[in-house]
Amino acid sequence: MRSWPSLTAEGVCLARALEHRRDDRLVHDPHALGFLRAPARALVHSAATAGPAADLAERGFDPGLVASIGARHGWIDERLAAAAPSASQVLLLGAGYDSRAWRLPLAHAIVVELDHPATARRKARRVRRQGLPADARQVITADLAAQSLADVLARSVLRPDTPTVVVWEGVSMYLPEAAVERTLSALSLHFGPDLVLLMDLWTTTATPLHLAAAERAGRAGLRVLGEPLRFELPPLAIAGWMERRGFRVVRHSDTDTVARLRAGRPAFPPLQLVEATPIPGRAS
Ligand SMILES: C[S@@+](CC[C@H](N)C(=O)[O-])C[C@H]1O[C@@H](n2cnc3c(N)ncnc32)[C@H](O)[C@@H]1O
Repeated sequence: MRSWPSLTAEGVCLARALEHRRDDRLVHDPHALGFLRAPARALVHSAATAGPAADLAERGFDPGLVASIGARHGWIDERLAAAAPSASQVLLLGAGYDSRAWRLPLAHAIVVELDHPATARRKARRVRRQGLPADARQVITADLAAQSLADVLARSVLRPDTPTVVVWEGVSMYLPEAAVERTLSALSLHFGPDLVLLMDLWTTTATPLHLAAAERAGRAGLRVLGEPLRFELPPLAIAGWMERRGFRVVRHSDTDTVARLRAGRPAFPPLQLVEATPIPGRAS
């Protein structure tokens, strides 16, 4: 069993802190900075003080990854805020350093963060250090490589057949396809048709030639971090793939579209953003 906190969770948190400092930010996450280690915090501070020079440097190093992570989180924030008033439960599945429990109007709902114990432990320390109220959410720890999500949900405070929003962000791409299928099945069986699922998927697209090297480097980097990419789909295949697993896609966008529309900037890779709900009678 992996015993160290997720490094990709820290990586995407750094991206949110970098994105938050911009005037044309794609995500508003003032707490992201407080979850980072000192060198990452220093990087964000130097980017903030360097202003336009930092933007130029960023463009040289970053093909649009910070924008992609920011657009993903910002889009999910909006969809969660829209769906949450009709839900009495919110599950942040693979929560990492998600700060939605403190940022979004979710006080009417039970908010549960489920994560690997090592990441959850580090987050708990950082929550205390930032002085955030720990009871804004409940935490469930589980290693989903070893434990079944269905069992974990059955033993949790999350009531079955209850209107629930589940955020599953930045996780599906690291799992084998069978594990993604098992997760979808566990969610629809537990929560029933009043579930709204907000998730992202890595996409298999023809990468423009000038970004091919960046994509190869990104994939290699994730392997080095011990979280290699395992699951991806072409954008046009997503609705059909989800439907065969008992989910109807009700909204589908991608981070490049969101970043261009909202901030006039490209995002890369173009992560697919999906809002889906179980097809009644199809849970299996
Ligand atoms: C890339 S991070 C995404 C975090 C967060 N959703 C976000 O977007 O900021 C992946 C998350 O999945 C969690 N995770 C990875 N493997 C896991 C496992 N076997 N059991 C439970 N959680 C796991 C990690 O701890 C981490 O928080």
